[in-house]
Amino acid sequence: MHSSFSVLFVCLGNICRSPMAEAAFINEIQKRQLHIKVDSAGLGSWHVNNPPDRRTIKEAAQHKIDITHYRGRQIQSEDFVDFTHIIGMDHKNIYHLKKIAPPECLHKISLLMDYSLTHKGQEIADPYHGDQLDFEVTWKQVELGIIGLADYFEKQL
Ligand code: 4NP
Repeated sequence: MHSSFSVLFVCLGNICRSPMAEAAFINEIQKRQLHIKVDSAGLGSWHVNNPPDRRTIKEAAQHKIDITHYRGRQIQSEDFVDFTHIIGMDHKNIYHLKKIAPPECLHKISLLMDYSLTHKGQEIADPYHGDQLDFEVTWKQVELGIIGLADYFEKQL
């Protein structure tokens, strides 16, 4: 059965960081047998209907996760109602999310790294202009946040 929690990961383009967070989190909650609805979206519309960046796909494949079927989408106002947790990757994401969120949904917005034990307040840097190694670093950062997030939900379920 699904829990009452649902998570939307948000970055700028929805082809690098938020698909990674979605993939890593689904993988983690499957291991822990937690049932939480998960999705990702971008603040921008450039990559709507596009698959993730090939470097994101490659990095996920390194962790035996196939994300070739993911498609980019832009966040929409209903998302703030439909999801219990809207999680951004950097401070700019949070700033923009707070600008477009209905006032009664502002409390749902948080920064991924704030769930980590050791890296609270830190950003998941955008790897888009980097190389494959940057995507590897991004995955490691995302994992830190994801583990903390899964711990946070596990305590409440
Ligand atoms: P993401 O990275 O926000 O982690 O998906 C980006 C991907 C594409 C663009 C910006 C950021 N872009 O400007 O196209």
